[in-house]
Amino acid sequence: MIHARITGTGSYLPERVMTNHDLEQIVDTSDSWIRERTGIEQRHIAAEGQLTSDLAEPAARRALAAAGRVPEEVDLIIVATTTPDRTFPSTACLLQQKLGIHGSPAFDVQAVCTGFVYALSVADKFIKTGAARCALVVGAETLSRIVNWSDRNTCVLFADGAGAVVVEASDEPGIIRTDIHADGSYESLLTTVKPDPETTDPERLADGTAFIEMRGNEVFRMAVNTLGRIVDQTMEAAGMSPDEIDWLVPHQANIRIIQATARKLGMSMDRVVVTVDRHGNTSAASVPLALDAAVRDGRIKRGDVILTEAFGGGFTWGSALLRY
Ligand code: UT7
Repeated sequence: MIHARITGTGSYLPERVMTNHDLEQIVDTSDSWIRERTGIEQRHIAAEGQLTSDLAEPAARRALAAAGRVPEEVDLIIVATTTPDRTFPSTACLLQQKLGIHGSPAFDVQAVCTGFVYALSVADKFIKTGAARCALVVGAETLSRIVNWSDRNTCVLFADGAGAVVVEASDEPGIIRTDIHADGSYESLLTTVKPDPETTDPERLADGTAFIEMRGNEVFRMAVNTLGRIVDQTMEAAGMSPDEIDWLVPHQANIRIIQATARKLGMSMDRVVVTVDRHGNTSAASVPLALDAAVRDGRIKRGDVILTEAFGGGFTWGSALLRY
């Protein structure tokens, strides 16, 4: 049997850091509100002209270097993003060009904050069926471009960044199982809308772009319940118990959602990778960014069992259980 294993991780954050105090100058908010309600202290924001594929490229190169692979060895590229450079070509094709790879399949996956878990699930199937041997799976976002900078309900939450993993065919078990779901009947609770010129600052709005709108409290409750359910289902289906998990690497939307999932699993927070304080919510990039942070600082080691989960617009949700 062919297994699919993560053999390298990488990430990239744009240089510019925006603190909660910076946001106090833009909307009616406070550092203490943002910290208490979300756990976010700062986030990274892409420079003018820096597009999603520009963040994806260094993240991908770092993941390839960590795996000891060169771009020519990649035979599948999947980019999870909500903020593609263009409607088409896909950001995966633009990344493929930047990496100088020719001929491999390359496509985007759009599942908002669950995008990376979806992309990992797809790559796992390609590898396990023998259709690919060395896949590059990237989550990359420039959400600052679709944030309404006049809306304090959302502009304090979302941010930019990219994370990547290399997934390879292996004799050793790696990805144990992935579970992905969606329910489009909730589309209106977290969506993009055309801005209302009456209520938004035109200087902060790009022409014709639609902006994130969220019914935060309802999304929060759904996220807590759904993530609590899916992590149980995944562990049960794998025939494993939560005390076999070394690390929970959750989607980084809100520290209170992360704590609720950890509580549900009976895991103490020192086994949970948290980056929401430094990165904010980077949607499809948040899980691979957190994974790479914990691999590089030495917390996650080869052989560790990792559970990741995510919940986002759609609604979409999913989880992946793997041995690193
Ligand atoms: O990644 C995709 C999935 N997304 C999520 O999982 C996000 C889920 N939602 C959340 O994380 C939280 O709901 C938020 C952080 C968005 C909001 O926290 P909350 O505890 O649910 O607050 P709320 O929306 O119930 O608002 C409480 C109060 C309101 O004031 P009133 O009506 O009680 O007077 C808001 O107007 O907080 C106010 N508020 C703010 N105050 C200061 C909302 N945003 C801000 C702000 N600064 N930035």
